[in-house]
Amino acid sequence: MINGKTLQLKPFGIEDADFLLRWNNDSDYTGEFEPYEPVTRGDLEDWLLGNKPDQLWYIIENTLGEKVGQILGRYHKDGSVQIGYRVIPLARGRGYCTEAVATLIQHLFDQGIERITAEANPHNTPSLRVLEKLGFNEIEYKKKAVELNGVWLDGVVYELRREI
Ligand SMILES: CC(C)(COP(=O)(O)OP(=O)(O)OC[C@H]1O[C@@H](n2cnc3c(N)ncnc32)[C@H](O)[C@@H]1OP(=O)(O)O)[C@@H](O)C(=O)NCCC(=O)NCCS
Repeated sequence: MINGKTLQLKPFGIEDADFLLRWNNDSDYTGEFEPYEPVTRGDLEDWLLGNKPDQLWYIIENTLGEKVGQILGRYHKDGSVQIGYRVIPLARGRGYCTEAVATLIQHLFDQGIERITAEANPHNTPSLRVLEKLGFNEIEYKKKAVELNGVWLDGVVYELRREI
């Protein structure tokens, strides 16, 4: 468990199956800029019960213990970590994502990670706002980065480096 100021990041577990099934099968949760990939309970439970070494997959829980979203990190070979996040529609705009990302950043920097990256669609204003609020800098504009329903969308890569 990673504790933030007003929320906590709880590693994914089998007890999160209902939440993950409910929301990852809802295209409003995925949002309009990411591929919508529905999951089955069987596949999800197999995956949750499997061995997940080196993965940073967390449920975002508020002070009431309510699950409000998820935040993920993936280690790259160069030692950096790429993050991604989703907040359930009814809990958006309350600062949950910003605090979850800030909490994960601090945790990763404390672990010795020196560079964190994220990639977002140039029109995904809430996501870009979260990254900019936390001091991320744009480092690359990728043309045709993601295919969504047969259409190729651009992506913007952001990074945050640990201050020495
Ligand atoms: C991106 C996402 C996780 C943000 O979650 P959130 O908890 O609502 O984010 P926060 O409340 O911490 O911050 C959102 C910021 O964007 C701003 N914002 C939201 N919608 C906006 C809009 N249409 N125009 C301008 N700003 C907007 C909010 O005002 C807030 O900024 P502020 O603190 O300066 O007011 C959420 O929108 C989501 O799950 N989207 C679908 C999945 C997705 O796109 N994930 C990211 C993929 S890169």
